[in-house]
Amino acid sequence: MNRFHPLCTLACAALFLALLTGSSLAASKVFDVDLEFYPYYPSLIKWNKSSVPFSEPRKCGGCHSKQYKEWNGSVHSLAFKDPVYQGELNKGVKAVGHDIARQCEGCHSPAGVVTGEIKGPGNAGLSDMALAGVSCDICHSVSGTTHWQTPSHEPENGSFILTPGVETTSGQTLIKRGPFKPSDNCGAGFHKCEESSLHLQADLCAGCHQVYHYDSHFPIEATYLEWKHGPYAQKEVLCQDCHMVETETFKKSADEFRKPERGEYRHYFNGANFLLSYLAAGAAKKGGDEKLAKSLMQQYDMAVERLKSAADLELSPVYRDGRLAELKVRVKNVRAGHNLPTSLTNVREMWLEVIAKDESGKVILTSGSLNPDGTLPGDARNFHSDGMGNDFHFAIDPWKVTAFSRHETIPPKGYKDVYYGMTAPAEAKAVTIEAKLRFRQADQKVAEALLGAVPKDIDLKATYGLEKVPALPVVDMVVRQANFATTK
Ligand code: HEC
Ligand code: HEC
Ligand code: HEC
Ligand code: HEC
Ligand code: HEC
Repeated sequence: MNRFHPLCTLACAALFLALLTGSSLAASKVFDVDLEFYPYYPSLIKWNKSSVPFSEPRKCGGCHSKQYKEWNGSVHSLAFKDPVYQGELNKGVKAVGHDIARQCEGCHSPAGVVTGEIKGPGNAGLSDMALAGVSCDICHSVSGTTHWQTPSHEPENGSFILTPGVETTSGQTLIKRGPFKPSDNCGAGFHKCEESSLHLQADLCAGCHQVYHYDSHFPIEATYLEWKHGPYAQKEVLCQDCHMVETETFKKSADEFRKPERGEYRHYFNGANFLLSYLAAGAAKKGGDEKLAKSLMQQYDMAVERLKSAADLELSPVYRDGRLAELKVRVKNVRAGHNLPTSLTNVREMWLEVIAKDESGKVILTSGSLNPDGTLPGDARNFHSDGMGNDFHFAIDPWKVTAFSRHETIPPKGYKDVYYGMTAPAEAKAVTIEAKLRFRQADQKVAEALLGAVPKDIDLKATYGLEKVPALPVVDMVVRQANFATTK
């Protein structure tokens, strides 16, 4: 029996289904979404809802002061207050509507989303728990993941389950999950403990370190899958083994594929974002919190040191008909467990600056020197990605990027070669070359646009001491010099 006119069977059925689902989001067959399973869509976070509250980090810090001191000042502790994040969130809500905020906050402040406390961009009037971003009681309340049930069947957009505790006949019981078999008095009456193998896997980090387009499910950031498809996953060197340890320990994990000892784990979650640590340290100093400012500057130093140990450069000459014709620069990813750079690859900039001079000091080649206005010249060799939108045009905002037109990052333990054509003057016997691999968080204009869009309750001048966006600092990850004869 067919209730539709035969001519319109297919079309009418499709229309009928579209009316039934009634949502402009999630209409794709390739990336099918179960809206009942994911009530916070476009965030894929889940919460075993009960009256058991989340506890703010200071409360955990009362008994776990070491972990608290290490975490406080980490990029995780800044994930929600981050003015760069708030600027972009504000732009996103204006461009797409309020629904998109859930997607962002599901990773930048998960507790604020499930409790419904966060209503939009801005910090005003929020509880310490919501402001704390990715805090103790997020990670240690994770009871499972839904990585393979997501629309992409990959971890994405917060695909984990939060269970801060359970309601029992005698009241509320907090349950915290961690790497150990619980000791007798684990939790000291404040919480129960549960041994969790998930906390000893990269899967714990995966749900947040895979940022997908909110409805097209394109991987804009794919740090976890870059890692999983590389040599460190094969050797069981996890995110934790490089990002939850001191810098010297991280270098051993990377160089020797050595797993740290149990006692070597720390709660720094230190990465590459020296700029955010620097901005936050300025705010802490202005606010009179010297201790916090100090730990933020320690995070800054660690991020710079991490960047300086991530890569290497090899310079070699290419001769043609006996004359120096090209310079070859090999850029190697020696210590990043994922691609270099990773995450926001369409915003971060990692590029080569090369200057070659003859014996008289005359410059015979330059590439990648910043323009006077702080922008990067178009022909600089930049190892990042270009996003493109549905219309196949260049796009940068995460609600627009549904593909990459170019992706130039370097795989773990891998390399990329860059060739520069060179014509030395006939009388020159040798050339001197200086090559630098340089890194910054964003293009000058992009940073100015983001910080220009912060919500009204965040005062960049009063809080951060910023009159205007300064020239973005650059870290020289590697600097190498070489001398080559012009003839062979
Ligand atoms: C799946 C989790 C996830 C979702 C969803 C997500 N983010 Fe993020 N976001 C991250 C992670 C992880 C980083 C850090 C990446 C890095 O350092 O390169 C980040 C970094 C950022 C940064 C850079 C911050 C800085 O200081 O440089 C901005 C801005 C940002 N996110 C905005 C957003 C906005 C706006 C949305 C929603 C449209 C969003 N994010 C959705 C996880 C997420
Ligand atoms: C981003 C996730 C994350 C956050 C945020 C986090 N932890 Fe952890 N924590 C972990 C992981 C993973 C381990 C296991 C590390 C290992 O392999 O030993 C751990 C281990 C622990 C342990 C066991 C002892 C140790 O240090 O290894 C305690 C206690 C602990 N965390 C408390 C805290 C407290 C308190 C906070 C907040 C100040 C916090 N954690 C924030 C992920 C997190
Ligand atoms: C009243 C003190 C107290 C408070 C408050 C407290 N804990 Fe604990 N916690 C303990 C004790 C005691 C242990 C046993 C191990 C130890 O001595 O570190 C423990 C163990 C843990 C472990 C390790 C569990 C395992 O089996 O691997 C984690 C993770 C943890 N706590 C997280 C938290 C988090 C998150 C908070 C805040 C929501 C918190 N704790 C608040 C006392 C406390
Ligand atoms: C072998 C060590 C190693 C492992 C394993 C590793 N990382 Fe990294 N990570 C690095 C280094 C080095 C950097 C700095 C260079 C860069 O930005 O790629 C970094 C940078 C980062 C950044 C900052 C990117 C930015 O531009 O701000 C994030 C986020 C990150 N890692 C997350 C992860 C996650 C999640 C995992 C596991 C899936 C992981 N890392 C595994 C070494 C490692
Ligand atoms: C609930 C979501 C969430 C989880 C779980 C999570 N992260 Fe993150 N992480 C973030 C967000 C969001 C940021 C970026 C915040 C910002 O830049 O404003 C971030 C930033 C980082 C950075 C700093 C990146 C930089 O640019 O310097 C590192 C390193 C990192 N995470 C490692 C980890 C590791 C290792 C784990 C697992 C043990 C983990 N994260 C689990 C959400 C998460």
